[in-house]
Amino acid sequence: MNMSQGKPKFYLTTPIYYTNGLPHIGHTYTTVVADTIRRYKRMRGYEVVMTTGTDEHGVNVERAAKKAGISETEFVAKMAAEWRALWDELGLAADEFVRTTDLRHVRTVQWLFRLCRENGYVYKGQYTGQYCIYDNAFVNDAKPGDNCPDCGRPTETITEENYFFKLSAFQKPLLDFYKKNPEFIQPETRRNEIVSFVEGGLKDLSITRTTIRWGIPVPGEEPHVFYVWFDALTSYLTAVGGPEFEKRGFWPADLHLVGKDIIRFHTVYWPAFLMAAMQPVPKQVWAHGWFLMDATKMSKSKGNVVLPRPVANMLGMDALRYFLLREVVFGQDGNFSYDALVTRYNSDLANGLGNLASRTAALIEKNFGGKIPKVTERKSQDEALAKEVQSAIGEVLENYENLSFARALETIWSVIGSADKYLTSEQPWALGNSEQDQARKAAVLWTTAELLRIVTVLGHPVLPASTEKVWALLGQTGSPAAVELDGLRWGQLAPGKQLGKAQALFPRVDKNEAIERIEAMANEELNPAPAAPAAKLAANTTLGGAAAAPQAAPEKIGIEDFAKVEMRVGQIKTAERIVGADKLLKLTVDIGTEIRQICAGIAQYYEPEKLIGRKVAVVVNLAPRKLRGVESNGMVIAAAVGPDGRPVLAGFPDEDVEIGARLK
Ligand code: MSP
Repeated sequence: MNMSQGKPKFYLTTPIYYTNGLPHIGHTYTTVVADTIRRYKRMRGYEVVMTTGTDEHGVNVERAAKKAGISETEFVAKMAAEWRALWDELGLAADEFVRTTDLRHVRTVQWLFRLCRENGYVYKGQYTGQYCIYDNAFVNDAKPGDNCPDCGRPTETITEENYFFKLSAFQKPLLDFYKKNPEFIQPETRRNEIVSFVEGGLKDLSITRTTIRWGIPVPGEEPHVFYVWFDALTSYLTAVGGPEFEKRGFWPADLHLVGKDIIRFHTVYWPAFLMAAMQPVPKQVWAHGWFLMDATKMSKSKGNVVLPRPVANMLGMDALRYFLLREVVFGQDGNFSYDALVTRYNSDLANGLGNLASRTAALIEKNFGGKIPKVTERKSQDEALAKEVQSAIGEVLENYENLSFARALETIWSVIGSADKYLTSEQPWALGNSEQDQARKAAVLWTTAELLRIVTVLGHPVLPASTEKVWALLGQTGSPAAVELDGLRWGQLAPGKQLGKAQALFPRVDKNEAIERIEAMANEELNPAPAAPAAKLAANTTLGGAAAAPQAAPEKIGIEDFAKVEMRVGQIKTAERIVGADKLLKLTVDIGTEIRQICAGIAQYYEPEKLIGRKVAVVVNLAPRKLRGVESNGMVIAAAVGPDGRPVLAGFPDEDVEIGARLK
């Protein structure tokens, strides 16, 4: 905590994200955690700065820009804008967004390098090694032909003249630092890993490159550019003032949030660079686990990425935030499944918080004309509930403080459960109109409303949008964000306030339908339909209502774009329904060279048995993906007919076409 004048300061960061792809649920997770902490800390009276950004240099970007046929500058500008827009759309906008191509950042990197060099920690040398271009890192001890241990891709042998950083000189200072600051690396297991890694000895690190063009130039040493990690880590300083960081007073950072894959960069290299430059070292690095799909890391090539936007569109961003933070203990790996997501949505949000809020409001409306009642006498069960909530406040704050989000939410939801039980046993709806019954109703409904108020405040950092709605429903002014958590106590709900208008919080959803719609939107985003106006792709368009929405006038594409889509004549060999997916059929299709399994969203319009032997048009070069857990390796073309986009399969009725023939 930095204390200057007034409020204490708190600075936290997400990693800056690579621009050669777009955000999936893994990236969203880190950013959701950061956003939650930012909101929580503000409610505890801190002046908070949260930063994120884009990591825009390196070979991958050079290659991706070339593939896209545009300059690197244009490419990264486009990608950074997309990342930024998505965070905005998801309500995750940070206070600062650093792009590593920003001039202010270039200055900071060059400044830090100069300090390291002036202090004698930089020298020139030759380096030959195996390099992973995807992770932008030399792979220590790898031999030619070895794959990268992190991502499994082949390494490349690279020899170059580099500037080296004397990392070896920091073995003892780092070990001393870890010892003096046991909280620096979290969680404990990661700390132990890093300590033993450093105890094993540190090799000097090459921090410039001559084989890469797209990077920050080393002043006066062209063609040297900075190694991407020297560049990227420094963005944390750039965000809060760069060389003039003292003016803003937010450095050293209080918290770097990172995934477990990048902990070494943050807890070994980064503090060593800063020590060499004689600058303050961050206070804590927290490494979270990964969200996995079917126990493997998500990747576009495996076709198993989960995108945030379709989930947010279907269930609301709060539902996604809640799921990510509740489902997995922070620090550990967890599995992402749509099934678990929608189940939690219905049970915890629709039936839990949503139901409690609407039930309480309806009872107050009916019995007290929508005014929060006044309590005149209390029974022991009211006192017991009050006590439980009061102690939950302390527990939740402690859990937030330790970043134990799952436990904080568990505690909040156990309070919601107690309120449900309390209402069921007190049965205010069964009481009459006698003075005594009215008094009892008032006590029960005030108690429930007060519990709801406290739950709303405590849940706000995780559920910012929906708690605003409950807040307004309770007739409270302003926002729960403005409540100081340290002053939150049982008993502060003033009687006499008029409730706000009832609004739908978390409408219950049909699980199968919700999953199908999310998947359809995700497919649409991952494989945007080609610009043909009427013919659309069956598996993409017929699953959800959202896909049938009118489309903007398509841009024209060149023939070379069309040529990228490989379509062939296929013949359906088998077709069956998929349990739990009303709209999907699982097909096997002979495409001439092989038999493919393809899912198509046509189950409501085609009998599986009648499809056998039918010739269809198939997109054969789509990346495989999973639909309701079933792999789909290609796409069957259909026209979308009528207002609800009824799929009509494209076919070849007039001519006996050969299976495997290419469509042009
Ligand atoms: N650019 C570097 C970070 C530089 S920070 C100075 C980088 N970028 S990244 O885009 O590949 O990853 C950013 C973060 O997303 C990492 O913390 C990574 O662990 C996290 N995730 C990527 N996939 C993930 C999951 N499937 N699950 C959870 N987090 C994961 O690394």
